[in-house]
Amino acid sequence: MTTTEHPLAARREEAVTERVLASFDQSPDPRLREVMHSLVRHLHAFARDVRLSEAEWGTAIEFLTRAGHITDERRQEFILLSDVLGLSMLTVAINEQDAQGATEATVFGPFFVDDAPEAPLGGNLARGATGTPFYVSGRVRSVDGTPIDGARVDVWGADDDGYYDVQYDGDRSAGRGWLRTDPDGGYRFWTVLPAPYPIPHDGPVGDLLAAAGRGPMRPAHLHFKVAAPGHRTLITHIFVAGDPYLDRDAVFGVKDSLVVEPAHHPAGPAPDGTHPRGDWTSMTFDLVLAPDDHH
Ligand code: BEZ
Ligand code: FE
Repeated sequence: MTTTEHPLAARREEAVTERVLASFDQSPDPRLREVMHSLVRHLHAFARDVRLSEAEWGTAIEFLTRAGHITDERRQEFILLSDVLGLSMLTVAINEQDAQGATEATVFGPFFVDDAPEAPLGGNLARGATGTPFYVSGRVRSVDGTPIDGARVDVWGADDDGYYDVQYDGDRSAGRGWLRTDPDGGYRFWTVLPAPYPIPHDGPVGDLLAAAGRGPMRPAHLHFKVAAPGHRTLITHIFVAGDPYLDRDAVFGVKDSLVVEPAHHPAGPAPDGTHPRGDWTSMTFDLVLAPDDHH
C-alpha cells in the first residue's frame, strides 16, 4: 500500500478514519454498523492507496453527479456503473447457491420491465422487434429433475439493431413477455435472434470505458427470469455461441454453461406446426432452479 512515508501525516490520516468508524459504533442496526464500518475502512484505504488528489476527488464527484442526472425511469447509470466494475457479477457470485445442477445466474441488467405482456405458450414475443425468427424451448425443472408446472418465465431481448424496446421513443413493448410452463415444465416461444450490442455508452460510464480503452459491447444474449414457488428465482441469459464478444463482455456476465449454439433452418415447417417464410433459428435450453434457501 502506498500510504504516506511521513509518520505525522500517517497519524493524521488514521485519526480521520478512526473518528468516522467510531461515528457508526452506535448504529442501532448491527448490519448497518457492520457494512458501514467495512465500507469506511475500504474506502479510506483506497484513497490512501492511490494518494487521492483533490482534483481527482472532484472528478469522481462530477462523474457521480452526471450519473445521477442521466438516470431516470428508463436509464439507470448506477446499475451500469456497478456492471462495468464487475460489482454486479461479484454480487451474483456471492449470492449464488451451490445447488448441484442448477442453471447458473448472471447480471440482471437495466432493461427488465415489471409489466411486460403475458404471452401464450408458443406465442411470439417479438411483436415488431426486427431480426431472424428464433424459436426457444425447453423445460423448467428442479435440481432433482422434477418438472415445474406453472413456473413464470420472463424473457427479454434486444432486436437485431441491438436495442431494447425501452430504448426507443414511445411506449411500445417488443421483444419481451412472460409465460407459464405447462404440466411437464415445458416452455416455448418465438422471438428474434439477439445480436451483440453496446451497453448505453453516451453517458459517464461510456466515457469511463473509452478513457480506459475498454469497449462497451455485450455478446448476443437473451434474458430470463424464472420464478416458481419453493425455488430460488433464477436470473440469467442464454448467450449465442460463436459471438465475437463472448470473451470480453463489458459487464463480465458470460458463463460457459450459458453459451448455446442455435440451429439454423431454411424456410419450412417449425416444431410448433408454423411455417416461417424465411430462414429461422432455434435453441433448446433447460432452466434448472435451485431450492429456495428459506426452506
Ligand atoms: C443487458 O444485458 O441488458 C445489460 C446488462 C448490463 C448493462 C447493460 C445492459
Ligand atoms: Fe441484455
